[in-house]
Amino acid sequence: MERLDKILANSGYGSRKEVKALVKAGNVTIDGVKVKDSGIQIDPEKSEILINDEKVLFRNFIYLIMNKPAGVVSATFDNYDKTVVDLLQPEHERFKPFPIGRLDKDTVGLLLLTNDGDLNHKLISPKYHVNKVYYAEIDKEVNEEDVKAFENGIILDDEYKCMPASLKILKVDKDGSRVEVTIQEGKFHQVKRMFLSRGKSVVYLRRIRFGPINIDESLKEGEYRELSEKEFKALTYSEYEE
Ligand code: URA
Repeated sequence: MERLDKILANSGYGSRKEVKALVKAGNVTIDGVKVKDSGIQIDPEKSEILINDEKVLFRNFIYLIMNKPAGVVSATFDNYDKTVVDLLQPEHERFKPFPIGRLDKDTVGLLLLTNDGDLNHKLISPKYHVNKVYYAEIDKEVNEEDVKAFENGIILDDEYKCMPASLKILKVDKDGSRVEVTIQEGKFHQVKRMFLSRGKSVVYLRRIRFGPINIDESLKEGEYRELSEKEFKALTYSEYEE
């Protein structure tokens, strides 16, 4: 048994103060009966709680997939720029999700957000080899030597030696190249710096896969949704190699 206000606040329906006001205003029913006292004790497993006729879902965690647009930063707060969290609706924002790993301000594509710290830790730790796949456009011709250098581990400008990465050449012409890059780490500006070490620049970068999750092409840039049950299971139950 738990207090009604605690149950509602923990499930993401607002702060304790906010849910108290919600109950007091007569918006909440328990097993069909309107309640006004948010301090009553309830067993959430046994009672049906409705807020404005909608069933309350009990959960503490949220998992979102976003198609990140350019121009917003992958953070929960920024003094100057709009953040990915600013793009969320209040019903999702109230769970206080944060991005799993970062994409640069100008990078677009697949970004996961959650408030599940344990899962976040597992997914961003280089100890677990979670593949991140990027589609990139490069200003120059990418060749087989670049592919080999990526395989062998690129050395970045700060002497850091990257883990082996795979580079797939999709198209090359005189204006530049289109490639797909798979990395397992997430160092600052990693893909851009890997190409810079080869004397080439990334002019467009889009993440298309994160572990078992593919970008959802039906989401426009700036849109997001909750992960499906299938995606959630794939993400949380995958055996990431240690
Ligand atoms: N590598 C980069 O350089 N930038 C990103 O946003 C992601 C990977």
